[in-house]
Amino acid sequence: SKTPITVAYGDGIGPEIMEAVLRILEAGGAQVAPEVIEIGESVYLRGASSGIEESAWESLRRTRVFLKAPITTPQGGGYKSLNVTVRKTLGLYANVRPVQSYEPFVTTKHKSIDLVIVRENEEDLYAGIEHQQTDEVVQCLKLISRPGTERIVRYAFEFARRNGRRKVTCITKDNIMKLTDGLFHRVFDEIGQEYPELQKEHMIVDIGAARLAEMPERFDVILAPNLYGDILSDIAAEVAGSVGLAGSANVGDGVAMFEAVHGSAPDIAGKGVANPSGLLQGAVLMLVHIGQPEAAARIKNAWLKTLEDGIHTPDIYDERVSERKVGTQEFAQAVIERLGQE
Ligand code: NAI
Ligand code: MG
Repeated sequence: SKTPITVAYGDGIGPEIMEAVLRILEAGGAQVAPEVIEIGESVYLRGASSGIEESAWESLRRTRVFLKAPITTPQGGGYKSLNVTVRKTLGLYANVRPVQSYEPFVTTKHKSIDLVIVRENEEDLYAGIEHQQTDEVVQCLKLISRPGTERIVRYAFEFARRNGRRKVTCITKDNIMKLTDGLFHRVFDEIGQEYPELQKEHMIVDIGAARLAEMPERFDVILAPNLYGDILSDIAAEVAGSVGLAGSANVGDGVAMFEAVHGSAPDIAGKGVANPSGLLQGAVLMLVHIGQPEAAARIKNAWLKTLEDGIHTPDIYDERVSERKVGTQEFAQAVIERLGQE
């Protein structure tokens, strides 16, 4: 029987890449029954101030599996980020973002990147505690709690252990934010003692980001508070070839949301050129999560074979002469044709 999943097509390039991904899932034999919900700007304009209607929450609470295309969030005003609302309401405390290089199919200076960013997903400056202090001063509070930190730190170490990873690098700025980032670092050191087989290291975020850009191969699991994790994962994905390649799992207790790392890319929306790979990677993580690892492997292999054959959306740089640039749906078709071929 098919597993019900909740699906949102999102904004910008969202509908194009979601269509491509759902076609691939269906052709790849994924046993899922998508329930489509609408979230975002259109819903907000209809009067739901959170941008999500009760019927959508009902679906999410029932399926507890959410495949979400990127949504546009107004900058510097307007309604609150729906991503943040969904993560907080469903308690999706861990954001897991694997990044790999796909040499020689995607050209990058870094041929053997294989890292996973584990980002705390509910606290930090993302908690959205902002206010107007005086006419001329505004403030944003950085929230780090011991229970929230213990949960994400333990998640990162358990993830490393479960997946045969060797090292966990914790990234903070505790030389400056001694209390908040200091707590995060201290909890990392404390809980790390329970994992003697894993290497532990700590880096300050500025040099950590610089090393990630220059020597991404040296990282294995990276653990970071919310904002640094957000920034570091775009750096890692871009260094590995394109932000269009990376997917992520937002994990809570018995509930999870899967998405691309990137946003709604309004600059290329409607042009049919967006790379569906990031959302597809999210969908592959989802299939593993719902107990369909065979379909996940079949789809991932067909996707790899497509890259191997030099078929790419235009955001990917591939220096091989055999390369062929295609649009979103043509790329999806190429993946579908390679299912079961490897
Ligand atoms: P973005 O990630 O949407 O785009 C950055 C650049 O990467 C653009 O040049 C875009 O064309 C390119 N790009 C992104 N995804 C691509 C893909 N799949 N294929 C090819 N090229 C791709 O970041 P931006 O422009 O800062 O944000 C746009 C909107 O997305 C904002 O409203 C932002 O709030 C929202 N956003 C939503 C996220 C989500 O729903 N999880 C995450 C990040 C941003
Ligand atoms: Mg981001």
